[in-house]
Parts: sequence; structure tokens; C-alpha cells
Amino acid sequence: MNDKQLAANHAVQQVQDGMVVGLGTGSTANCFIDALAKRCQEENLYVTVVASSVVSTIKAQQLGLPLIALEHLSRLDLYVDGADEVAPDLTLLKGRGYDLVREKLLARASDQFLVLIDQSKQVSHIGEKFPIPVEVMPFAWQMVKHQLEKLGGQGGLRKTANQDGFVVSAYGSLVLDMTFPAEIDSKALHRALNETPGVVEHGIFQNLASTVIMGKNGEVELLGG
Ligand code: A5P
Repeated sequence: MNDKQLAANHAVQQVQDGMVVGLGTGSTANCFIDALAKRCQEENLYVTVVASSVVSTIKAQQLGLPLIALEHLSRLDLYVDGADEVAPDLTLLKGRGYDLVREKLLARASDQFLVLIDQSKQVSHIGEKFPIPVEVMPFAWQMVKHQLEKLGGQGGLRKTANQDGFVVSAYGSLVLDMTFPAEIDSKALHRALNETPGVVEHGIFQNLASTVIMGKNGEVELLGG
């Protein structure tokens, strides 16, 4: 069993009968979806799930997990997802995929947000390994980029894998991938991004993670919680 599966197996033990459980997106979240389906089957556990993406919706469907649409929910019990980076204060960077808006909505609406990582995701500060994804209203991207450049940001619109077009998020936004000088801490950046008109959502998840479950060299380590 690899470290991502270890973290997922630990998280699945937090699920209780009758819960509404949010499913994240990515390879680690997939391990959790597999573990949840297994537990439901083997223990006759009944849960309702809500997915953060089309990919997770399809996976949940294939495994027979009962899905509910996000628009029918005002809250959920548990949200379980991966992350691209985790800082020591449990601020996260997310959004390497296309589903940032749903991911942050589910994280905020959930009583408990469990973040599953392996050791490679631990960083000393947000933005250490990846640029900050900033979803923008399509007509506002140049104005937003200009505002972020005034903060020292550098970057541009995320391109498709074959480089001949621009990525559109699941919400229909364009995505700016921006790097910022290390002097700007994630709290200041979080506030600045929240206050920039035209920004739909961004990848800094501050004060949202309840517990980070890290698989590390075959053991589980809990951060926070
Ligand atoms: C999706 O938008 C991201 O926020 C994911 O949570 C992230 O990319 C983690 O994916 P892995 O578990 O595959 O690393």
C-alpha cells in the first residue's frame, strides 16, 4: 500500500453511517473514493456523496455510491480531498485541476475537511512548488493580471496541454497561474486575491483544513486537528 492509500484508509475510518460526504479530485482523492466504496460494501454503511468534479462523479457512479447534486445541499458532514501544497499552518494550495470553485465551496460547507497528502506536498510556504491558480471572469483577465502584477505577481493564462488554447475551468473561468515574491505571505495574498474584482476564486485555502492526514514512509502522521 502506498502513502496516498494509507492516508485514504485512515480518513475512511472517520466516515459514519448516514453522513453526507464530499469527494475531492485527484489521485489521492481517488484512493479515498475506492476505500469508501469498499467500506460501504463490506460494512453495509450507508452514505450520500457529493462530488467536486465530473471525474469524481463518474468514479462514484461506477462504484455505486449514491450521489446527490451540490445544488441540493446547504452543508455536509465531511469533505475529503488532496492538495497541491500544505504549509506548516495548514494553509493549502489547490487548483492544479479544473475544479477549484466546487472544491472551496465543499471545504467551507463541511463540518470537517480532511486533507490527504504524501510527504511531497509539505512546503515551508504556499507557492513554493506551484504557481497560485487564480480563476478569473473571462472578460476580466487582463485587468486582474495587471492588478496582480502591481503586487509583484508574474504569470499568465494557463494553456491547454497541447499549447494551442487556454484552459477553461469547470466553472467556465479562465485560469491565471501566478507566482509572487516570497516576501508576500499567504495571508496577505489571500486577502488581496479576495479583494480583486474579476477574481472568481483562487487556490489558497486558508483556515479550512480540519486535519491533514499524511502518509509518510508507510506510516500515518496527523497534522492539526
Ligand atoms: C485539484 O484541483 C487539486 O486541488 C487536487 O486536490 C490536487 O491536484 C491533488 O491531486 P493529487 O492527489 O493527484 O496530487
